[in-house]
Amino acid sequence: GITRHYKFNIELTNVTRLCHTKSMVTVNGKFPGPRVVAREGDRLVVKVVNHVPNNISIHWHGIRQLQSGWADGPAYITQCPIQTNQTYVYNFTITGQRGTLFWHAHLSWLRASVYGPLIILPKRNVSYPFAKPHKEVTIMLGEWFNADTEAVISQALQTGGGPNVSEAYTFNGLPGPLYNCSENNTYKLKVKPGKTYLLRLINAALNDDLFFSIANHTFTVVEVDATYAKPFETNLLVITAGQTTNVLLKAKPIAPNASFYMLARPYFTGQGTFDNTTVAGILEYETSSNSTAFKPTLPPINATNVVANFTRRLRSLANSRFPVNVPQTADKKFFFTVGLGNSPCPKNQTCQGPNGTKFSASVNNISMALPSSALLQSYFFKKSNGVYTSDFPSFPLHPFNYTGTPPNNTLVANGTKLVVVPFNTSVEVVMQGTRIFGAESHPLHLHGFNFYVVGEGFGNFDPNNDPKNFNLVDPVERNTVGVPTAGWVAIRFHADNPGVWFMHCHFDVHLSWGLRMAWIVLDGTLPSQKLPPPPSDLPKC
Ligand code: C2O
Repeated sequence: GITRHYKFNIELTNVTRLCHTKSMVTVNGKFPGPRVVAREGDRLVVKVVNHVPNNISIHWHGIRQLQSGWADGPAYITQCPIQTNQTYVYNFTITGQRGTLFWHAHLSWLRASVYGPLIILPKRNVSYPFAKPHKEVTIMLGEWFNADTEAVISQALQTGGGPNVSEAYTFNGLPGPLYNCSENNTYKLKVKPGKTYLLRLINAALNDDLFFSIANHTFTVVEVDATYAKPFETNLLVITAGQTTNVLLKAKPIAPNASFYMLARPYFTGQGTFDNTTVAGILEYETSSNSTAFKPTLPPINATNVVANFTRRLRSLANSRFPVNVPQTADKKFFFTVGLGNSPCPKNQTCQGPNGTKFSASVNNISMALPSSALLQSYFFKKSNGVYTSDFPSFPLHPFNYTGTPPNNTLVANGTKLVVVPFNTSVEVVMQGTRIFGAESHPLHLHGFNFYVVGEGFGNFDPNNDPKNFNLVDPVERNTVGVPTAGWVAIRFHADNPGVWFMHCHFDVHLSWGLRMAWIVLDGTLPSQKLPPPPSDLPKC
């Protein structure tokens, strides 16, 4: 591989959408941010210089960071934030991965404007496991807030209430014609008849899983989260926040005299406080006159069965060129409840949660408090005292039984507790969605690893029977999975990457409320199994 250098200047830029202009934190003045391209085996060196008043850090979402945990990026987990006028160089090698990922800010809600594609091409002279497309197109799904997102979240956290929702969804930063004052901000894709296009779709929205469809066209799914999938045809995609999906789009053989809307709108089964609007883009054929415009029909917002039917079709490619490495047994088994709850309202505050409590979210009834220094440094330099404890419970504090009605005890504890596992442990985690406040889904993202989704179901996970049906042959491999509302998913992975690894809901609102935990994976015995010391420019808190 080669070394590729990028420079990210974090700077304030005025951006206008929906007739609202605001000053936003951006990378190099771009919204969405610049595209980073590399090949498998390359080294990326990204110099980030912070010119704004906010602290920041950048995360390379889905990159394994083998023995380079110092470059992972989540603030207060692997590094202290990059402060105003400071610089940090993210330096890492892309090993054994190729496909569509993205990078984003990993502090507060800054990723609303600080995000961009991270495209990893196969090594030179290595082909895709499908016919070479005529063209590759990246479409990032995101959100637009008229208000300043940092103000939105800090206000919500101070009042213990729910934050305002965004005004629009976007394709590559553009809300499209279904919003007021947005006609000129429409994403357009021009295609040639008969050609095949590789669409690289990235859900960078802050707080929503999204449906995506293009009128009168079908897709062949070929990759998710930068791992190849068994191809299948569909006219609808479901992409949770933090997931990516590559599809082949075959243009019609003869240019029709029509254009075709591409639409995305959220999937959720929540309480109605979400933004239920639709972003539109246009697919056009070169040389056609576009006399009519067709629109696809998207499923209703609470179409949980549609989502389950889609996710169950996802399988790893699992062939001789791209074999799977699913742990056939698990050394360590965990059961995590993931969901919303509430915590006591701090003194001198009036909270907007149920019965005057504060809105919270938790894993195993522990709402994770971020430390004021970085966990990875505390771990590496053996200074965990007062920063974290290593007693994250393997089972929830309040035993969970889903009966359709909320449990009486929804109060959660605050803490900074981690799980410690020896190098190369095979780990199984069953994640159960609790559905305490309405039905909500949770896209759980794991840093530092890909995992296999070996099972999923509705209702309570049954430890005696459900494992009999686990797919240990060709389960889909990914870095983010939607835990269904009032349902469960089971994942397995090899803990073969030493360091401290964040795991959290990829909805920023739930992340801010504490739906997060972290793993410590200890060093192995060989030099190649140890975490090296930090780079000298690692920011200080
Ligand atoms: Cu894409 Cu920890 O996040």
